[in-house]
Amino acid sequence: MVKICCIGAGYVGGPTMAVIALKCPDIEVVVVDISKPRIEAWNSDTLPIYEPGLDDVVKQCRGKNLFFSTDVEKHVAEADIIFVSVNTPTKTRGLGAGKAADLTYWESAARMIADVSKSDKIVVEKSTVPVKTAEAIEKILTHNSKGINYQILSNPEFLAEGTAIEDLFKPDRVLIGGRETPEGRKAVQALKDVYAHWVPEDRILTTNLWSAELSKLAANAFLAQRISSVNAISALCEATGANVSEVAYAVGKDTRIGPKFLNASVGFGGSCFQKDTGDTRETPAIDVCKGLLGDKAQISIYDPQVTEDQIQRDLAMNKFDWDHPMHLQPTSPTAVKQVSCVWDAYEATKGAHGLCILTEWDEFKTLDYQKIFDNMQKPAFVFDGRNIIDPEKLREIGFIVYSIGKPLDAWLKDMPAVA
Ligand code: NAI
Repeated sequence: MVKICCIGAGYVGGPTMAVIALKCPDIEVVVVDISKPRIEAWNSDTLPIYEPGLDDVVKQCRGKNLFFSTDVEKHVAEADIIFVSVNTPTKTRGLGAGKAADLTYWESAARMIADVSKSDKIVVEKSTVPVKTAEAIEKILTHNSKGINYQILSNPEFLAEGTAIEDLFKPDRVLIGGRETPEGRKAVQALKDVYAHWVPEDRILTTNLWSAELSKLAANAFLAQRISSVNAISALCEATGANVSEVAYAVGKDTRIGPKFLNASVGFGGSCFQKDTGDTRETPAIDVCKGLLGDKAQISIYDPQVTEDQIQRDLAMNKFDWDHPMHLQPTSPTAVKQVSCVWDAYEATKGAHGLCILTEWDEFKTLDYQKIFDNMQKPAFVFDGRNIIDPEKLREIGFIVYSIGKPLDAWLKDMPAVA
């Protein structure tokens, strides 16, 4: 039986390995992590991350051919294929601080692999890393190899949080890069055989190592460009009276451009670049709240998927520390006193001057906005950073509404009546 070990039981490692275990009953998959609470959660009824369909997949194979463990070294030593899916956050200090990827976690994982391995290994880069990381990892492994052969593959992950299971079941493509040597090709084939259990052959792309590493960064850059472009257009819409939803629809109808990833919003966050689940890393909501706190606002926050502890932590931390897991951080920040967290949107808006919508939860579309208006101070403002409410309906209630990329209140007043 082929044995797979994945280092890092996070948003990528957990769901990806669960799907591999489900689709490959002939493979034993162990996901390991240095975080005891995270592993305990993976072994409990309340998984550490929320993804539609994930519970089902985990329940079907946990204890059969899917295991979660903190015994990192044992399972790495026993594995044939080791995925490394540790976090690669933005550097907070040193050269490239605020820009470059921090590869500390990756490097320590690679050194540990070199220390404990007693048999040949295929080491798979799952984390998003700068191009040529495979070469650096290869050096660490081969210079400490004790005669063991290592093949490094790049197999970047393209899933999006919120649709991880769907993306893993039916990926647009799986990309595998390896060395162009007989051993490299053999390793690529071994990983291809794993994915071939459920991914059609024409969707499994094989390239050289550097093309695979660069493709992931290039894809992220293209996607980020689209969102940035439509956000820039939304500012023009607000200034001119155009409606960004109409503009994006018209532009996206061009088959050369396509309709996806053209929603204007307050911006994108996440450890890669775009997030919409309980993962708050680098969410623009934190920037907005910090700006308001700087202006001495009292903020009452409601999010159906994020705990008070997480919110307080996010607001107390410096930018880019957000993506460094708690158990890897030296100090715990203290709570921000101007912030209260509540468990109900109506409670959050009671007595407020303004309501900011910064996450596109479905329940925000169907709130009783009349009730919210009645309990807010007047004038009552709504700032819809996700374009999920109908500005006209809210204006009828009496709100002053600012929606990203939509004509502003003032515009409407100035507009001549249409016969
Ligand atoms: P995460 O922060 O949720 O999980 C990483 C895990 O690795 C943590 O639980 C941490 O404790 C563990 N870890 C760190 N060093 C370790 C070590 N030496 N030994 C054992 N465990 C260790 O990160 P996430 O979101 O799963 O991302 C992983 C990588 O995948 C990153 O490079 C990210 O950029 C990339 N990626 C993330 C996507 C996402 O949607 N979250 C999508 C595509 C790629």
